[in-house]
Amino acid sequence: MERTANQNVKPLTCKRDENGELQIGGCKISKLIKDFGSPLYIYDYETIHSVIKDLKKAFNNTNIHIMYASKAFMTKAVCKIMQKENCGLDCVSSGELYTAYISDFDMQNVIFNGNNKTKEEIDMAVKWGVKLFSVDNFLEAKFLNDICKNKSIKMDILLRITPGIECHTHEYIQTGHLDSKFGFDLIQIDSIINLIKNEYQNLNLRGLHAHLGSQIFQTDVYRDCIKIILKEAKRIKNEYGLTLDIFNIGGGIGIKYVETDKPLSLFDFAKTIKEALKKYSEEYDIKNSHLYIEPGRCIVGTAGVTVYTIGSSKQVPNGRKYISVDGGMADNIRPALYGADYSVDLVKQCSQEQETVTIAGRYCESGDILIKDVNLPKIKHGDLICFYDTGAYCYSMASNYNRVLKPAVVMVKEGNAELIVKRQSFEELTESDVIPEMLK
Ligand SMILES: Cc1ncc(COP(=O)(O)O)c(C=O)c1O
Repeated sequence: MERTANQNVKPLTCKRDENGELQIGGCKISKLIKDFGSPLYIYDYETIHSVIKDLKKAFNNTNIHIMYASKAFMTKAVCKIMQKENCGLDCVSSGELYTAYISDFDMQNVIFNGNNKTKEEIDMAVKWGVKLFSVDNFLEAKFLNDICKNKSIKMDILLRITPGIECHTHEYIQTGHLDSKFGFDLIQIDSIINLIKNEYQNLNLRGLHAHLGSQIFQTDVYRDCIKIILKEAKRIKNEYGLTLDIFNIGGGIGIKYVETDKPLSLFDFAKTIKEALKKYSEEYDIKNSHLYIEPGRCIVGTAGVTVYTIGSSKQVPNGRKYISVDGGMADNIRPALYGADYSVDLVKQCSQEQETVTIAGRYCESGDILIKDVNLPKIKHGDLICFYDTGAYCYSMASNYNRVLKPAVVMVKEGNAELIVKRQSFEELTESDVIPEMLK
């Protein structure tokens, strides 16, 4: 199978120049740090483009809708890329929807997902022109129907289901199994369909939606998911006379964080999915269907890196050597949250001598360790270290813990680097704070 970017640890354009210095998108990392400061998130445009191009090629001849899962990394610039690449967006909050809306994104190409959409958020989504909802629960179905009734419109919906498939991935990011906070299980689904058929006249059931989990390395779960969804669609047609034509199998395609990760090519995933779609569409007599996928991590994960500056260090007597950097759990919560592993490189490798070190974040938590016991050329204060594969679920999960400012984000392409998110300022950090009258 053709190799795809998600099978690499590094962004496609990442290389060492003649002086042994790391560059991405034709830009020297040390120069980027000089120009934009440290720590810094860097995104390689070429890698994002390549993944989307390969997804389209791999799903060639399928009626496919690529709905980028914006939770992975969402900014105005990302919306522009997705619009240009003709991808839709999967949004799960009014904030994500708003970012798309003010970026002039085509809101007809947005699906609104999420397990606790508020009435206000649903109202905003309808007002901003969203045309497809994945309904997750009974309360939301009622809210959405009421809002659409008031506006005399009929909204296309999918039902989010839990198909009962377990993926061999980290338990915190499994969502497709039965004990899940997301969606309807295959027993409850009849109650919601009855409501839609008999009471919720402003909802138009178009299809089913499932998401199996994240960082998935096997294709058979998608095959099984398609089988379950299409079988259910046939049952719904037979029992309720409703013909469904949208089948959304969510995201989850895995990427390579460390050498031991063996993610499959996007072409492998597409092959299994296309074969399953053909087989089960025939078996369950489903015609003219649309396949929706919601990849997040595999589109932006490999494209992004985070560069930190080395600060203090501590040698524990007869123990570890800790090297601290100017970032950590507030710009990348994944190691502390679920023990995620990363690969790293020094931007300039000055020393031939190697040492085993533990890279610690700057935040006041003992758990703020970015990588444990890694072999690197000897490091000194001021050196730059590059963490690969931080493009997904890092900036989007960033916080201001310890009142540290959020880093800037730049995009690089063919030797050009441009800011896509400014470094947060102290004014921005404190602008929402209010001193109440009682304290004046
Ligand atoms: C419903 C849904 N779709 C898509 C995604 C994106 O998953 P990934 O980034 O693993 O592709 C998620 C992630 O949690 C999700 O919950």
